[in-house]
Amino acid sequence: MNVLLLGASGRIGQRIATELLDRGHKVTGVSRSGDIDGIDDPDFTAVAGDATDPDDIAALAAGHDTVASALGPAEDADVEILTEMTEAVIEGLREADVDRLVWTGGAGGLSVGPDTKLVDTDEFPEEAVPIAEAHIDALEIIRDANDLQWSYIAPATLIEPGERTGEYRTADGELVTDEDGESHISMEDFAIAFADELETDDAVHTQLAVGY
Ligand SMILES: NC(=O)c1ccc[n+]([C@@H]2O[C@H](COP(=O)([O-])OP(=O)(O)OC[C@H]3O[C@@H](n4cnc5c(N)ncnc54)[C@H](OP(=O)(O)O)[C@@H]3O)[C@@H](O)[C@H]2O)c1
Repeated sequence: MNVLLLGASGRIGQRIATELLDRGHKVTGVSRSGDIDGIDDPDFTAVAGDATDPDDIAALAAGHDTVASALGPAEDADVEILTEMTEAVIEGLREADVDRLVWTGGAGGLSVGPDTKLVDTDEFPEEAVPIAEAHIDALEIIRDANDLQWSYIAPATLIEPGERTGEYRTADGELVTDEDGESHISMEDFAIAFADELETDDAVHTQLAVGY
């Protein structure tokens, strides 16, 4: 497949790029500068683009089968830029006539009980509430774009660089926890789950949670 990967310079994006390239896909990786370190593969092309600009996205997406995102707000940006990027990406896909979108979301909007989202629990760290809410707003924008074949892949609460084990579990809209009640996943295994969904289309129009 020919994949446009937004956020390819990021921590999760770099691992998704590596996973897709290892599976034989062609990847065009986007960052604002056009520089992406650490990926040396003839099927990888790094390009510059601004994910808040629908015309930029449309021009970049043209000719690709799928647009994948591991976008997140830059450190110095307001978290609300995430919703701006979400709207611009959707508009750009429509302009480019590409209808498949696989999106990296947030854990905060996942359900942990009847009518309770993770972000609403006492254990959820106060400082992470704004980004969690921005991810929930982004999901609402994506949910309204059902003309696109979107999949929203939400990581576990804790997602860190780690091992590529090939193990993971998924759930539809619910936080995935292990037998000790912990919610975690390595970025490498998250990238496997992400690439699996990109290849299979098993969870279209779904907020898919990934964890161990
Ligand atoms: N448990 C959770 O819910 C959880 C945990 C971790 C991460 N996440 C989410 O997963 C996503 C990825 O996380 P991460 O840690 O990999 O993020 P990251 O390392 O900060 O990467 C963010 C990526 O977005 C790109 N970007 C930012 N603004 C852009 C713009 N205007 N135009 C184009 N590209 C832009 C950056 O590119 P540049 O090179 O141009 O800066 C970078 O590639 C984020 O949305 C994050 O909130 C969720």
